[in-house]
Amino acid sequence: MSHHQPDPSKSVNLTIDGLPVTVPEGTRILEAARKVNVHIPTLCEYPDLCKRAVCRICVVECDGRGKLAAACANDVWEGVNIVTNNRRIQNIRKTIVELLLANHPQDCLTCIRNKKCELQSLAESLGIRGTSLERDSADLHPEIERATLVRSMDKCVKCGRCVEVCQNVQTIQAINSAHRSHEYEISTPYKQSLSEGPCVFCGQCAAVCPVGALYEHDQTAEIWDSIRDTGRQTIAQVSPALADDLNNEFGFAGKTITAGKMITAIKLLGFNKVFDAGIAATVSDMEHNVELQHRIKTGGKLPIITGCSAGVVNFVNYFYPDLAGHLAANMNPRQIFADSIKADYAQSVEIDYSNITSVSFTPNISQKYQFGAEDKTDFAITAAELGRMIKLAGIDIETLPESPFDSININLPKQDNTDKPIKRETIFGFADARKVMEAIRKGECDVQWIEILI
Ligand code: SF4
Ligand code: SF4
Ligand code: FES
Repeated sequence: MSHHQPDPSKSVNLTIDGLPVTVPEGTRILEAARKVNVHIPTLCEYPDLCKRAVCRICVVECDGRGKLAAACANDVWEGVNIVTNNRRIQNIRKTIVELLLANHPQDCLTCIRNKKCELQSLAESLGIRGTSLERDSADLHPEIERATLVRSMDKCVKCGRCVEVCQNVQTIQAINSAHRSHEYEISTPYKQSLSEGPCVFCGQCAAVCPVGALYEHDQTAEIWDSIRDTGRQTIAQVSPALADDLNNEFGFAGKTITAGKMITAIKLLGFNKVFDAGIAATVSDMEHNVELQHRIKTGGKLPIITGCSAGVVNFVNYFYPDLAGHLAANMNPRQIFADSIKADYAQSVEIDYSNITSVSFTPNISQKYQFGAEDKTDFAITAAELGRMIKLAGIDIETLPESPFDSININLPKQDNTDKPIKRETIFGFADARKVMEAIRKGECDVQWIEILI
């Protein structure tokens, strides 16, 4: 195996299960195999995350050597003959999965990830029908954190993806790994709950978890209660783009579910009104612009920092409390809707605002985290939760007719047309946000508006 820096302009020739393939130097065995449509099973591997190669599911034989190589972590080399699937490799993979299952609660049928679980698919593809191994771990109670994330650590397969994404992508370090060998576990610093540590509730750990160990807190039962309560009105705000997430949820290719079909489905679930959340985003932008112009004129703190979720507020308050004054006064676009629903809609239908359940549909778990006491959105529901509601109601979303959004009166903030154009930058993720925050601290940021998206 080569240890020099790979040069992707050079080609490497090899065979995978007897099939010749040519790939650029530095290509991992896993990717080379995909090129010839050979599927090597994986568990800990995840695109764009650093390879820890801890699960060993992806092992392959190289040139008939006794020592197997992890296909996710090793590059190909010139002339190598790789075997990805034989009796020996199958037995190793089976043993690994059987050991994982032996330490796993056997409640697949009622697990939130049922049929969307990578461990379940692995067990199925390896033909595992049962295990003779004795289970030596106890069931743990799922921990619900800030009504946003749930941790069921007895389902953890110790793949390390959440640690990678939290530590190295988001740079938050709310999750870590502890101990070695059979005591190795995925935990938090001092074994504290996520709420007690630096977690900003971005939800990225749940997004990468292959099993039901980390997932969004499902609030669909509360929504059904509200819908069934004839004395209440249940109001939805949803962005048209959520239809894309719904397509992924149902496994539909392309744009089978359009925004119009999604609106019809939400109405069929029993929601009284469905409003376009895109309007709130636009109005929130206008509000921030008014605040920014005011800051410019009065020598206020620049840049103004805005963001789409409470996680951004948490991030700034936890890691950069000295820069908290840069946060916009109203960071919560949903609030604009909540205010309009309160001021106009509740009056127009002659219902007390306390009898309205305001539900925001969101592609991102981080939006479930409430902005604080002033946050009037009762629930934030992900595409996964909406998908579950649609399935439970037996709605065949593919064949639905389209419906338009309901209209609502929203007071637009007054813009000053003489305002000069402003320098605005959008930052994705906390790793880059950190660089910008450091620059602001040093007085080296000449942008007037920083928007942080998770
Ligand atoms: S929600 Fe985000 S910050 Fe919190 S543990 Fe998960 S990845 Fe880390
Ligand atoms: S919680 Fe999920 S992502 Fe994290 S190590 Fe366990 S199985 Fe992997
Ligand atoms: S997928 Fe390669 S070691 Fe886990």
